[in-house]
Amino acid sequence: MLQPPLYRSRFFWGVNDPDGFDKGLDGLVSAARVKQGWFMSDNMIAFGRNLGFLDDAPFRKAWETHAKTQSERGIVWRSHVVVWAARRALRLEGDFIECGCYKGTTARIMADVVDLTDRQLYLYDLFEHDASMVHHAMPEHGPDLFEFVKARFPEPNTHVIRGFVPESFEQGVPDRIAFAHIDMNNAPAEIAALNAIEDRLVPGAMIVLDDFGAIPYRRQHVAETAWFGERGRFVLELPTSQGLVIW
Ligand SMILES: C[S@@+](CC[C@H](N)C(=O)[O-])C[C@H]1O[C@@H](n2cnc3c(N)ncnc32)[C@H](O)[C@@H]1O
Repeated sequence: MLQPPLYRSRFFWGVNDPDGFDKGLDGLVSAARVKQGWFMSDNMIAFGRNLGFLDDAPFRKAWETHAKTQSERGIVWRSHVVVWAARRALRLEGDFIECGCYKGTTARIMADVVDLTDRQLYLYDLFEHDASMVHHAMPEHGPDLFEFVKARFPEPNTHVIRGFVPESFEQGVPDRIAFAHIDMNNAPAEIAALNAIEDRLVPGAMIVLDDFGAIPYRRQHVAETAWFGERGRFVLELPTSQGLVIW
């Protein structure tokens, strides 16, 4: 495609006046000479970009199939980063995990695009929420979510595990991990998960830390920067707000 595509959604957090904000975005586009390659979503505004992920046909098909809500669609660039990391992890020996799968949408997109036939995929979550938990609830938490996610992954090599990470690793965790998506919005649990998987990560393992660059999750940013720093490693803070580490 010679003309770069555009992507614009109304998925922005921290906005008091969505209509006014949207008009402001119109104003940005009209003030710019470059009209192509605008990306406006997920607290990210970029222009003059190729946005190649929108032309990635297998990704696009999986994303169109599974990303239905405003937030699932709004994080399209983040979803593609996860798919990219998973594709890279296929070059390594080891299995795939996601700590904090929620509805399984990102994992489902990934598993549609990346051939995981000879890998194990472990998806961990609580699936429900109560007021004693340090992280925030998600709209579709509830008693039916666990079964919903299990039904979304009929593949025998996918294991959907309910319970607190890292204690729930007792129900199953791979010996060798090539890919880890850590997305629990919960700094203590994310650090505990990293401690628990550290010795299982294969050299070059792909680790994606969701929300690492987002101010509401600054506790994760601080704790994870320190955790990796103590191990002589650096987290790449991506414009999508994810953190990326190649172990
Ligand atoms: C933002 S959602 C995950 C979204 C999902 N990764 C995706 O991209 O579709 C965060 C999830 O982390 C889960 N979570 C938070 N703390 C947890 C813990 N200690 N153990 C297991 N799951 C946890 C929550 O239940 C919630 O569903």
